[in-house]
Amino acid sequence: MATSTDDPARAAWAAEHFDDWYAAQAAGESHGRADPALWQPGERRAELEHGTVDDRIHLLLARDGAGTALGAAEVWLPVHDNAHLALVDVAVVPAHRRRGVGSALLRACLDVAAAAGRTRVRCTTERPLDVAAGDWPGSAAAAAWGFTLAQAVARRQLLLPPPEGLLEELERTAAPHAAGYAVRTWAGPAPQEHVDALAHLASRMSTDAPLGELSTTPEVWDAARVREGEALRSAQGRRWWTALALSPGGEPVGYTVLVNSRHEPQRLLQHDTLVVREHRGHRLGLLLKVACLRAALRDVPGAERVTTWNAVANAPMVAVNEAMGFRADEVVEELEAPLPAVQAALDAVEAAGAASAR
Ligand SMILES: CC(C)(COP(=O)(O)OP(=O)(O)OC[C@H]1O[C@@H](n2cnc3c(N)ncnc32)[C@H](O)[C@@H]1OP(=O)(O)O)[C@@H](O)C(=O)NCCC(=O)NCCS
Repeated sequence: MATSTDDPARAAWAAEHFDDWYAAQAAGESHGRADPALWQPGERRAELEHGTVDDRIHLLLARDGAGTALGAAEVWLPVHDNAHLALVDVAVVPAHRRRGVGSALLRACLDVAAAAGRTRVRCTTERPLDVAAGDWPGSAAAAAWGFTLAQAVARRQLLLPPPEGLLEELERTAAPHAAGYAVRTWAGPAPQEHVDALAHLASRMSTDAPLGELSTTPEVWDAARVREGEALRSAQGRRWWTALALSPGGEPVGYTVLVNSRHEPQRLLQHDTLVVREHRGHRLGLLLKVACLRAALRDVPGAERVTTWNAVANAPMVAVNEAMGFRADEVVEELEAPLPAVQAALDAVEAAGAASAR
């Protein structure tokens, strides 16, 4: 796998453009949102320097003739599985919108995707709960570019600390439903005896969690991939806590992960949460999340909120989050289209723009 240290062109690009790339992306992504939960510059730079693990990532920056950064984009190409897919993100600095910059960046993203043999493209829009899709530039542009909704997601946040006694009460009520099951928690890299379990559960995340119309195919995980991800997280200045559920027979049946970055210490990010299909109905989702939150709060008592994303159709997970006090504040659309459909839609947008300029 190429990393910036064995890819001099990439390191040179980063030295010259990374700060402008990040500033343009942050300006585009943050506009109109109260709390955009962006990866911090230190985390993105560390990723460049360390080298990515699950995806090969291409960063793209649009500048005008004077060198001003107008917009930023990225293309994520999964390397272990999902070889049909390219995940793209395009963001344009608000002052430079509706001049075709977004379309030009998207076209460059499609060129990267096509060169890598990818046949479907996915993108995501995020907007405040009280803004309609028709009034949100990202949603309007994604529709004009030929993307269609594959899965509706809601972002929720939990203000910390939780009300006195709430976590204990939730555990007390749930415990009788999980008789015989056990929950283990730890901070940082997985104990060696649980690495294979985490790899197995991570792959089940791509088959047992709701996917809507997303074209995701089963992900391929092994212990080495788990360890690579841990090494990248550490390089990015992140700490994390894992809760693992074990069946009465000692089989790993669920897990959840919370992450905290030293670049944004006030936020805990909820990563994967899964209980495998065969072991649902025992309140393990709730018990895992409560145990993980307690472990994180012991180490970062000053954290101010937890941020999480769930498919709207994932009723059990949403119910767990609502019981813990999470409240929805953003609507997230995961959109997909075949690559040729996006190319055709882009052609039409650019032709209409050229005609109206005549
Ligand atoms: C989405 C975004 C990148 C568009 O950038 P842009 O430079 O304005 O895009 P373009 O000028 O190429 O517009 C392409 C087409 O999208 C549609 N569109 C873009 N913004 C729109 C808006 N505010 N209202 C209605 N339609 C809009 C139009 O059809 C437009 O073509 P037109 O201007 O010829 O009518 C920009 O609004 C942005 O950064 N948003 C935040 C990030 C995001 O949501 N990205 C989308 C997911 S990748």
